[in-house]
Amino acid sequence: MNDYITIALTKGRLADKTMQLLEKAGYTCEELKEKGSRKLIFTNEEQKLRFFLAKGPDVPTYVEYGAADIGVVGSDIILEENRRVYEVLDLGFGKCRMCVCGPEEARELLKHHEMIRVTSKYPNIAREYFYNRKHQTVDIIKLNGSVELGPIVSLGDVIVDIVETGSTLKENGLAVLEEVCPVSCRMIVNQVSMQMKTRRIREIIGNVRDCLE
Ligand code: PRP
Repeated sequence: MNDYITIALTKGRLADKTMQLLEKAGYTCEELKEKGSRKLIFTNEEQKLRFFLAKGPDVPTYVEYGAADIGVVGSDIILEENRRVYEVLDLGFGKCRMCVCGPEEARELLKHHEMIRVTSKYPNIAREYFYNRKHQTVDIIKLNGSVELGPIVSLGDVIVDIVETGSTLKENGLAVLEEVCPVSCRMIVNQVSMQMKTRRIREIIGNVRDCLE
């Protein structure tokens, strides 16, 4: 398996966009295009490439442990997971913003540094933002999705979450109150692979970089 370069993709929209970009750069995988397949791993024998699909938060884990040489995942997840990997490219798609959101009334609570409850899929990012950047003591509650429910059912005062179009917030009577950081899709590389498979990995990074707008 050492002859192969293994690439972990984030399941869903990001995987589709990543494959479009890789194809432009000259890397393909016909097996991946078969719709409705339950296969987990896909190979391009000629190019000695292997691809697999994983849940976003697991991608940096596969890359840190060397189960994948390369991973493609959102910078929100890279920040949250804080794994020992090299971040080598900003791919420019999957753009959104990490924000503190809530009902308009919560603006005052943020301004006066009150003790508030924050619900989020990103407890580490929320902790870093409130404790280290804002010096505000907060209570953080981890949720696994539909985080916008937090303030609506009074589990928390605000949320820390990604905002893309803003329509989820709008439809639920919430607004962006503060911006934490911009987010986009990144390429990450295993630290040992970078040394052991330098030539091939540099070639992939270079070819992909040449295709970025
Ligand atoms: C993400 C995010 C927001 C929404 C933002 O959720 O957590 O809920 O997208 O997008 P918008 O600004 O375009 O409305 P996702 O679809 O990943 O589902 P989840 O909440 O179940 O994690």
